[in-house]
Amino acid sequence: MKYDFDTQVSRYGTDAAKYAGLTGAEGELLPLWVADMDFPAPPEVVEALQKRVAHGIYGYGDFTNEAYFAPLQRWYSERFSWKPQREWLVETPGVVFAVYNAVRALTGENDAVLIQEPVYYPFARAIRDNGRRIAVSPLVFEGGRYRIDYDDFERTIEEEGVKAFILCSPHNPVGRVWTRDELTRMGEICLRQGVKVIADEIHADFVRPGHTHTVFASISPAFADMTLTCTAPSKTFNLAGLQASNIFISNEALREAFKREVGKTGYGGPNILGVTACQAAYEYGADWLAQLKDYLEGNIALVRDYLAAHIPQVKLVEPEGTYLLWLDCRGLGMAPKALDDFMYCNAGLWFDDGPMFGKGGEGFQRLNAACPRATLEEALKRLADAVNAL
Ligand SMILES: Cc1ncc(COP(=O)(O)O)c(C=O)c1O
Repeated sequence: MKYDFDTQVSRYGTDAAKYAGLTGAEGELLPLWVADMDFPAPPEVVEALQKRVAHGIYGYGDFTNEAYFAPLQRWYSERFSWKPQREWLVETPGVVFAVYNAVRALTGENDAVLIQEPVYYPFARAIRDNGRRIAVSPLVFEGGRYRIDYDDFERTIEEEGVKAFILCSPHNPVGRVWTRDELTRMGEICLRQGVKVIADEIHADFVRPGHTHTVFASISPAFADMTLTCTAPSKTFNLAGLQASNIFISNEALREAFKREVGKTGYGGPNILGVTACQAAYEYGADWLAQLKDYLEGNIALVRDYLAAHIPQVKLVEPEGTYLLWLDCRGLGMAPKALDDFMYCNAGLWFDDGPMFGKGGEGFQRLNAACPRATLEEALKRLADAVNAL
């Protein structure tokens, strides 16, 4: 079956966060910020949901059945050579929810938690909101690519007394897919320093040709033993609003500590439509995902080539994974606030502003390229017109 990613489906009036607060005419401002896609979920998932909705009874959900777990386990073992076990699974209504609870489970008040900025901004919030200290080992941008400064990574752990590290793998927003070697080096430092790892691998399915996602916990039993692996079908199949995510923790003591924190929030179990969607997505979504990834390759090429040809002041940081594009806008010579205003007011584009992601974000903007090509063409034209009008 050939899937359609070209049709522009209006999300106005559908309670979409991406469009929240937009008061102008449809299309006046193009929202290309939050990380969900402007594509409908796989038709196989929509069909499973329709069937579930038609049943009419929407009581409490259960995700412990084999029909839920088997496709999930198969997905990870076939694609990532990692076979999570049923007893490792803790269901949560989202990865951010899991990160918040993991921070409390693994650390005490005022303990330091390490992140690698620029990075997905809820990490810093999860640390701050839980009364922990943020320790930053910034990524180094060199020759158009981000790398890890391992000396700084270990020094920061020692100096700040870091107890846990939130790993973003693949990395949002810089688009790095960490190699096995990079993950191993970070993991060895964490092992040596007794630092636990919260591995957010939500973007694992969006890895571009030539790159491989390695599940951090799969590298060695010692790594697995210190790690919580956060996964979800939400980015891959565009299901974020259904709030289903799967957290795998093989270490029983860590799992129990995590469950205790989740329990304290009063969370009572999964959304039944999330359960249905997750199951159908991992069972039937592989072809759709393969075609989606091809389509996204075209979108990424369009942005890269258009910028090079028409807006050389803005450069694409070539992503290795994710559908989020990190644009180096420093060539426009604007102060951070002015740059964001320029995108919003002059170009009519709603991107995520670089400084939101912390240190190293100044002069950058994040563009979500998971939209029909025509939307992206319109966005690029708006950007070119605004830059030319300067
Ligand atoms: C790295 C990362 N983690 C987590 C999330 C959100 O996860 P959830 O919606 O399951 O809380 C996102 C969404 O953008 C993300 O990029």
